[in-house]
Amino acid sequence: KIKSPISEEYFDEIIQHLRNNFFGDEPLNKAVKLCNEGEKHEDLELHSLLTLKDNLSVMAVDQNTKKIIGVALNGIQKPSDTKIAKEKLLQANDEKYKNIFSFLYGVNQDLDLFNKYRVDRIFECRILSVDQNYRGQGLAKKLLEKSLKIAQDNNFKLFKQDATSYYTQKIAENMGFITIFELRYKAYRGEDGEPIFKTSEPHKFLKVMIKILE
Ligand code: ACO
Repeated sequence: KIKSPISEEYFDEIIQHLRNNFFGDEPLNKAVKLCNEGEKHEDLELHSLLTLKDNLSVMAVDQNTKKIIGVALNGIQKPSDTKIAKEKLLQANDEKYKNIFSFLYGVNQDLDLFNKYRVDRIFECRILSVDQNYRGQGLAKKLLEKSLKIAQDNNFKLFKQDATSYYTQKIAENMGFITIFELRYKAYRGEDGEPIFKTSEPHKFLKVMIKILE
């Protein structure tokens, strides 16, 4: 069952779901070995909770067990957010986390979507996560479809996601998203000339994908 909005009483269970299924398994997190399965991550948890507080997120619940089996954490992006987030990142504790987010924030700052699409807020799907035991059944697609509906209902003109996973790219392409930026992970190198994110197959690209809403 797909549910939205999500009240605060579910936040702890969502964080637990993310520890078990997202923190260690999202392609960039996995490439830098950010977390082991089930492990906490202070910065990522704060990022997730702040996003939940925008009240645009969606969850999937198993009707029999009542367990949360998937989430789309959606937030509002405003023009100055990326610059501020980039400055705040300097205080983050974890170098691996800093690497991931300075990469994503840098790409987004360069894209300057607010000017390009003449909008003052963007609906952003920041985290899409499905329980490992429920993958491949179309749940992520349902979570994204519901997210699109919420964006439309709230009069957003632009829906965006930084799709780091080949699977989310496939779902979004099928839903009519367009890729406005892509970068091959192998081409993003550190000072030593080595790729910073040695992602596993089949995750080869970061794609920034958008859908313009009517
Ligand atoms: N192997 C091959 N194909 C797969 C796999 C797999 N392991 N998993 C999904 N797919 C394909 C499906 O066949 C489907 O393609 P189709 O529409 O052409 O048939 C597509 O990918 C999506 O399938 P869903 O069943 O809707 O996706 P699912 O519910 O399994 O969830 C998700 C996908 C969220 C990426 C899940 O694998 C996950 O939680 N991964 C870890 C976290 C992660 O990487 N999240 C995305 C990061 S990007 C972001 O957060 C914005």
